[in-house]
Amino acid sequence: MLNNSRNGVPEKSPGAAGNKSANGLIVWFTGLSGAGKSTLAEAVFSRLDARGRAVEILDGDIVRAHLCKGLGFSREDRMENIRRIAFVGNLLAQHGVIVLVPVIAPYRSIRAEVRKSSKAYMEVFVNAPLEICEQRDPKGLYRRARAGEISNFTGIDDPYEIPESPDMECQTHVEGIEACVERIVEAIVERIGAAVGLGTPAAEPIAGGAFKAPVL
Ligand code: ADX
Repeated sequence: MLNNSRNGVPEKSPGAAGNKSANGLIVWFTGLSGAGKSTLAEAVFSRLDARGRAVEILDGDIVRAHLCKGLGFSREDRMENIRRIAFVGNLLAQHGVIVLVPVIAPYRSIRAEVRKSSKAYMEVFVNAPLEICEQRDPKGLYRRARAGEISNFTGIDDPYEIPESPDMECQTHVEGIEACVERIVEAIVERIGAAVGLGTPAAEPIAGGAFKAPVL
């Protein structure tokens, strides 16, 4: 049976969904292109996956090829992109999935909207200065933006509004990726708790090749 939850995301009744929703979480990695959002999300994914957690990544570049195909980089299109991602993220989180979202989400208002629409939301500000991101330029997009070949590029001719109160900040030009990942995983564990066995491996082989369930 369905009932409506916040943001119109259909939510199964506790009877149907059990208590899985209790441990889902959206972890939004916001920051400039080249700040290290996807790198961090992928490393956090590996750590949580190795512990047997249900975890998923909704990466801006990938989602824009499928769920958000056809959307551009106007303010309206970015808002639509982010709303769709939040919608899917909420559905997954309701079922206990830790959803990692490396997506710029440049405007304060849309981040506030996503936070409000989510039962469990953690914002990680992946903070590297524009000059550093521009030097890294992993996809050559800053160069193209400076050359006027692409427009509405975040940090160049489209704003990035610095988060005022993120749950966490990672300065990827100061702190190593591993140290950032360590802190993020720790924060996630704290948030959703040892109750779900994050501190233990997913499953251990036992005699006969069978697997025993993790300690919950
Ligand atoms: S958001 O603004 O809608 O949150 P999203 O994270 O999905 O952005 O997409 C950003 C990615 O699209 C960047 O990592 C970059 O690879 C690519 N991109 C292409 N054009 C632009 C642009 N004008 N501004 C920002 N990113 C762009």
